[in-house]
Amino acid sequence: MVASIPAPGQAHWSSKAAFVLAAVGSAVGLGNLWRFPAEAGANGGGAFVLIYIICVALIGAPLLLAETLIGRHGQRSTVASAALMARQSNASSAWASLAVVGMIANYLILTFYSVVAGWVLYFIWTSGSDVLRTMAAGQPFAGAYANLSVEQVRQQMPDLFSDPVKMSIAHFVFAATTTFVVARGVKGGIEVAATWLMPAFFVLLLGITIYAGISGDFSAAVAFLFTPDFARALEPQVLNSALGQAFFSLSLGGGAMIAYGAYASRDTNLGQTSGMISAADTGVAIIAGLAIFPIVFSVGLTPDAGPTLMFQTLPAAFHSMPAGALVALAFFVLALFAALTSSVSLLEISTAYFVERLRLSRGVVASLLGASFFLIGMVSVLSFNVWADHRPLAFLPGFENANWFDAFDGVTGRILLPLSGLITAVFIGWIADRKLVDDETGLQRSPLLPLWRFLIAWLCPIAVFLILLFGLFPQLIR
Ligand code: TRP
Repeated sequence: MVASIPAPGQAHWSSKAAFVLAAVGSAVGLGNLWRFPAEAGANGGGAFVLIYIICVALIGAPLLLAETLIGRHGQRSTVASAALMARQSNASSAWASLAVVGMIANYLILTFYSVVAGWVLYFIWTSGSDVLRTMAAGQPFAGAYANLSVEQVRQQMPDLFSDPVKMSIAHFVFAATTTFVVARGVKGGIEVAATWLMPAFFVLLLGITIYAGISGDFSAAVAFLFTPDFARALEPQVLNSALGQAFFSLSLGGGAMIAYGAYASRDTNLGQTSGMISAADTGVAIIAGLAIFPIVFSVGLTPDAGPTLMFQTLPAAFHSMPAGALVALAFFVLALFAALTSSVSLLEISTAYFVERLRLSRGVVASLLGASFFLIGMVSVLSFNVWADHRPLAFLPGFENANWFDAFDGVTGRILLPLSGLITAVFIGWIADRKLVDDETGLQRSPLLPLWRFLIAWLCPIAVFLILLFGLFPQLIR
């Protein structure tokens, strides 16, 4: 049945390992280094981590399998793959809306993700110049920004925010790099980036974690991350944040995993790879926590700084640590690698779609999309300074204080991603042809198949519906 519908000459990963690396590259990103520690810190540490792991195992991993199998079955853009599966299941092609919503969400995420990655670039610039300065002074193992006071180190972030020119340049450089990689294609661009950057990322992360273990307060970090306060674990706010973070970190609900699944070969066991990708992503998040919190605790800073943890708290901590200058640079390079392998997955979705639709070359489509997401991202850049008091969605509950940046983040993370995930779970669990779906899972003879079926048909839709509801009406949980 599948063979009768010719796939449009799609590219493939060169190996299963390349697929897993690229998917891990998509999943591992600023979500792990910047968002996970910030969320864990703000939601009570251990309680959040426990709920997060449960969310990944019971909801994230099953959905990851659902997404990759839609892609691998279709071998087309996310929208066309979802439409094909709907057609072959005698269901309305309206089910492909899951991929349309997802594609829009991913494109919008890219606009502000690139702005945040631009901050990372800026800190590579400042910490890199700092390393050059310490080297020239013959003190390579000095703390970071040793020529500044701690207040001045902390001031770097607000200073950057008040400077739209610096922020736009950094955003531009990151957007252009992402566009370049995607324009080069699946094998020559995305795969090459993932197979070089991800191993380098792991080495750097391990190095920084060992450093944190030696010179930081490791036991305080372990206690913070692994001693759950069970009363907090059941707070709706914690549940809601943990599930949202699972979506964001596993690149779910947008179609990134459908897009990457489309380049996976027939003999890739998707059940197995979904487990591997989820485990790797969660492992990196926890290791990142074990790298960041010992450093934060060792200098007596608090873990609940939220989004400024990575750009304000951490540089301030590196300030008073041995070899802090070198480690700060290594940390931001690490974050850049992680961000780039994620941003290419975000851009790949709409690029594949328009290449297929308009029959234009990949280079042209990627450049047009790159230019447009850069421009829309400028709105987020300006929301930190020139338009700091714009409240574009003030009429929506929960968005009263949201500036443009928060609005992009909130609309995608709290509404569009869960919505697309909800449609995906219902589609795969209830609508799509059972045999066709089961044959793609790689779990055919395993007791995991009925378990997965139960999770995707019942638990995922109900849980995702709830995050959607509470995301839209936060007053329900207050
Ligand atoms: N998972 C990535 C991270 O943790 C971000 C990301 C990539 C993403 N693709 C996505 C988030 C799709 C949501 C949807 O940084």
